[in-house]
Amino acid sequence: MADKKARLTVDGLEEVIELPVYSGTTGPDVVDVRALTSKGLFTYDPGFVSTAACESSITYIDGAKGVLLHGGYPIEQLAENSDYLEVCFLLLNGELPTPEQKEVFVKTVKNHTMVHEQMTHFFNGFRRDAHPMAIMVAVVGALSAFYHDSWISTMRTTAKCAFRLIAKMPTIAAMCYKYSIGQPFQYPRNELDYADNFLQMMFGNPCEDYVTNPVLAKAMDRIFLLHADHEQNASTSTVRLAGSSGANPFACIASGIAALWGPAHGGANEAVLTMLQEIGDESNIDEFIKRAKDPEDSFRLMGFGHRVYRNFDPRAKVMKQTCDEVLAELGIENDPLLKIAKRLEQIALEDDYFIQRKLYPNVDFYSGIILKAIGIPTNMFTVIFALSRTIGWISHWSEFHSGPNKIGRPRQLYTGPTKRDYEKK
Ligand code: SDX
Repeated sequence: MADKKARLTVDGLEEVIELPVYSGTTGPDVVDVRALTSKGLFTYDPGFVSTAACESSITYIDGAKGVLLHGGYPIEQLAENSDYLEVCFLLLNGELPTPEQKEVFVKTVKNHTMVHEQMTHFFNGFRRDAHPMAIMVAVVGALSAFYHDSWISTMRTTAKCAFRLIAKMPTIAAMCYKYSIGQPFQYPRNELDYADNFLQMMFGNPCEDYVTNPVLAKAMDRIFLLHADHEQNASTSTVRLAGSSGANPFACIASGIAALWGPAHGGANEAVLTMLQEIGDESNIDEFIKRAKDPEDSFRLMGFGHRVYRNFDPRAKVMKQTCDEVLAELGIENDPLLKIAKRLEQIALEDDYFIQRKLYPNVDFYSGIILKAIGIPTNMFTVIFALSRTIGWISHWSEFHSGPNKIGRPRQLYTGPTKRDYEKK
């Protein structure tokens, strides 16, 4: 596997340390540094900026070119030609499904959309104004109490676990919303497509039939698709690390939901809307740009910048186009928040601070405007992201368990006190 070598010389070490260099099918080569431990050395990379934590074949990102591939397929082509459940099949299996495979896959998902009736009791322990992400972490983690057979990761149980998660996340997400507004939980309707079913569980009620707007359902499915997976991001790496100890997969997914919640990660979509509402008017944009550039001010332009993309996030481009379609369909092209967002994007992209740091809009910049137009409350935005990303998490969890693996256990640069004897103060 390694026909290239890296050679390291370290002051104080006589020998030149030879390290294998591996090449993937595309993207940067990697230097295998595992031998350094035997030389008394660790690598140091806070935030894992330059660390490949694993080998994976699910998703590839070229940050410099703004490229995102799932199983080799560009995200723009998948957004245009595919749908969320088909991409779920692709992420789990590495290939697009045949029409027959897709029919079986969709039918199997539909057979798992209900949650155990006792799951409803977990909600009653929360205040009605509990943040839905707090409820999601708890309720999805509680699924591990219902499915012990998923503890043993065999191909059969992994597949069943994936179907249960893909199918139940929309049901649980909608239950979080219904609980917050004091309405009864809506059962899934399996004659509906995935996004339609989610919207009827969100906005339907027992008193009348709910008819989804096909443009909004398509936009919802596209949002699910665009958030499905994104290589070794913080929440996916969390799921892989939790999975490396052999933890129950539902508990691992709950750890991914917790990691996603932060405003630096999946919580950014909610933070973008809050920021746009705080800006309030285009005349205030310059003040916020000034704050975003001030090293003394912790304020950052939410929905801008990315650890990997040093170009446009390709998902942001598709999201912006979907945003225009949805708002036109709803006759709110002049949505004040969209106008502020577009003006903010234009100003930031012309400002040296953002240009020099290659800060571009990311997936979260426009998604919140679409979700708000569909009628989804701001505090549910990251729940939607978690619902979508569950397929990425379980695909990576499954990939980790599909071959030889080790528990993840990073080391450190220790800067605390050296050994000293105990003396009472
Ligand atoms: C997601 O990893 C993934 O793939 C994540 C994700 C996925 O699909 O899983 O793509 C989803 O999380 C998208 C990102 C959503 N987060 C936000 O929109 C929050 C705002 N963005 C920033 O917090 C930031 O850009 C991060 C966290 C996304 C990336 O941070 P990095 O890679 O650690 O970059 P950095 O903090 O080192 O910033 C480099 C410079 C710094 O300035 P200097 O110290 O060089 O002077 O850029 C500045 C930062 O201050 N900077 C920003 C900024 N983002 C970075 N300045 C103002 N506004 C911003 N948004």
